[in-house]
Amino acid sequence: MKYLKMNNGMMIPVIGTGTNTFGKENNDFGGKITYDTKELRSAIELDYRLIDTAIFYRNEAVIGKAVKESAVDRSEFFITTKIPSEKEFKETDEHVAHYVEKSLEELDMDYIDLYLIHFPLETNEENLRVWRVLETFVDKGRIKSIGVSNFNEDQLGYLIKHARIKPVLNQFQSYPGKHNQPLIDFCKANDVIPEAYQSLAKMDDKTKDKLIDIAKSYNKTWSQIVLNYQVNEGMVVIPKSHNHQHQSENIDIFDFTLSEKDIATIKNMDNL
Ligand SMILES: NC(=O)c1ccc[n+]([C@@H]2O[C@H](COP(=O)([O-])OP(=O)(O)OC[C@H]3O[C@@H](n4cnc5c(N)ncnc54)[C@H](OP(=O)(O)O)[C@@H]3O)[C@@H](O)[C@H]2O)c1
Repeated sequence: MKYLKMNNGMMIPVIGTGTNTFGKENNDFGGKITYDTKELRSAIELDYRLIDTAIFYRNEAVIGKAVKESAVDRSEFFITTKIPSEKEFKETDEHVAHYVEKSLEELDMDYIDLYLIHFPLETNEENLRVWRVLETFVDKGRIKSIGVSNFNEDQLGYLIKHARIKPVLNQFQSYPGKHNQPLIDFCKANDVIPEAYQSLAKMDDKTKDKLIDIAKSYNKTWSQIVLNYQVNEGMVVIPKSHNHQHQSENIDIFDFTLSEKDIATIKNMDNL
């Protein structure tokens, strides 16, 4: 596994697993929680150590259970969760603190590696208020790193300017066809790691066909091309799969180098 160093000195694996439908009936996002850990056990077996969950996914307890069931030491995992932006979670500082404590309880862990604000709140000042509560958990050692998700340049820039602890990472949607390149560039210029979500799910057929073409010359799959491209661009990726073969494929991306020409082609897919 490769790692990136975050701006607080800590290391983050460049590939993790998404989980938003794990441990749920019919693998349905809104499905009943089954506490079935098979998808995560399969990912952990394949050496996935970064696990991306959120309060909104309702499956923090499933992640905690899978980590405990594995023979891998807690210290080897990198657990990310997120606080939602809805009123009940952030109305007062006490609400925010309560839900962070609840994440720790659900995960049944002494600490969380990375805690994100899932979506920006109504104003930059509100983001900063919630952020300050998260900072107190970093001070206490209950959260190791804090970051954001779905923040644009203005929202992220405000936090960077005014926060005591700088965000380590911004998680947002990015895939060939919609890289969100200006935001990637802004993150990198400010030493904030860009983390891609939905690297694979949202691709249109035309783009996928072009990627399949590129993949042939490397003897790889289109998903491996996408993930290799993103990691090579300095992003962290969190593909999710319920399929052991796909999980295995998605983490097997370190044994080839895309040509400059193919990198340029993939970068320009936003304009297809
Ligand atoms: N911060 C946010 O607001 C936000 C929003 C959305 C998602 N997320 C996070 O990002 C994670 C990833 O996003 P996502 O789950 O929506 O989408 P994704 O990881 O881009 O794609 C998942 C889909 O791709 C398929 N897939 C995975 N690997 C494949 C492969 N090698 N070949 C072919 N198909 C493959 C999966 O099907 P199979 O199961 O059949 O393989 C699944 O249908 C989420 O689980 C969640 O943790 C965050």
